[in-house]
Amino acid sequence: MMRTAVLSGSFDPFTIGHMDLLTRSAGLFDKICVAVLVNPSKVPCFSAEERIEMISCAAKAAGLANIEVEGFNGLLADFVVTKKACAVVRGVRDGTDYAYETRMASANRYLSGGMDTIFLPAKTEYSFISSATVKEFAAFGRDITGLVPDSIYKIIAERLIKR
Ligand code: PNS
Repeated sequence: MMRTAVLSGSFDPFTIGHMDLLTRSAGLFDKICVAVLVNPSKVPCFSAEERIEMISCAAKAAGLANIEVEGFNGLLADFVVTKKACAVVRGVRDGTDYAYETRMASANRYLSGGMDTIFLPAKTEYSFISSATVKEFAAFGRDITGLVPDSIYKIIAERLIKR
């Protein structure tokens, strides 16, 4: 049986930490469907189309073949059912993430009638990296080399530095 998992997030932008989760989860499952949240309450820096394109580009550059990238809005639990996935994958950096993620995992288990969430611990060296820190560093003129995949560095840096 083909085992698909969903890696969900806003990915605004996709970071080196997200890339690490994608690489590791692609090694654990037959296929990873990256679910990009399309309709958050706040306006994203990168449109859903841009985020989908960037993630596809980074996955291709890393030689990951078993990846599909799609936008979703509404409930993650419903998206997971339509993808016939067996689990959601989420990265966990620290206790604050864990508190939020366990609650979300319970909500998603309830909403989907039993689907599980797999937590992957962030690599120690990536534990401070988030889309928010990348945006903040760039906004104050710091170089974000190494914080986002090299293959999509240029498009991310250009946008964040221009703002
Ligand atoms: O990158 P993020 O912001 O940590 O991703 C959070 C995301 C997109 C996975 C989460 O906000 C989500 O699943 N949103 C969809 C709405 C939903 O399913 N809510 C019920 C579960 S709490």
